Amino acid sequence: MISMSNIEPNNKRSTQLEKPSTPLSHREGQGGESFIRIILIGYMGAGKTTVGKELAKALGLTFYDLDWYITMRYHRTVPEIFAERGEEGFRDLERRMLHEVAEFENVVVSCGGGTPCFYDNMDYMNSLADTIYLKAEPEVLAMHLRMGKGKRPLIEGKTPEELEDYVRETVQARETYYSKAKHTVDVTLLDTSVKIQESVRIIRKLLKV
Ligand code: S3P
Repeated sequence: MISMSNIEPNNKRSTQLEKPSTPLSHREGQGGESFIRIILIGYMGAGKTTVGKELAKALGLTFYDLDWYITMRYHRTVPEIFAERGEEGFRDLERRMLHEVAEFENVVVSCGGGTPCFYDNMDYMNSLADTIYLKAEPEVLAMHLRMGKGKRPLIEGKTPEELEDYVRETVQARETYYSKAKHTVDVTLLDTSVKIQESVRIIRKLLKV
């Protein structure tokens, strides 16, 4: 079995971007027993990773962040993949890695903000998991994003005004996809640990878990 502990971040640059190493988890529990699979979606800065980690902890599940998974499998950060392959190349890898992660059992997965908006990713996720849209107002998202600079190529180099305009426009465009999630939780006021726990509580209530 390949487990997370077998995976060492590889500082050497792999030249085989198309051929990742073996999937980072194998699939157990396919003998008919029930399992939980929750996928969190939402715009950059909505708190998917923070809430996802806490939710997984509360439910005793394994947490996967899709961007992290891509980075581990391809030995490249997201900005590096964007720089080398462009957004199109990134979306292709993202889709492929989604197809690995979304089949693991007893997991909470947090996606990248764009994941639901490409290919048939949203329908695919809905067919396999309880999908939850963490929804927040553009102003709140832009504020969170101003604090996490450098990790997100789509907003790199934008002034605060440009960032807010960009977020407002793209949130609106992406809403069509996000709103296909099975559940929506408003996380606009999510900025303290109390609010995070509150989101976890709401999600558990929605899913009855
Ligand atoms: C993206 C969101 C990022 C990452 C990439 C593209 C997007 O993930 O996948 O930079 O298109 O919204 P986070 O939502 O975790 O920041």
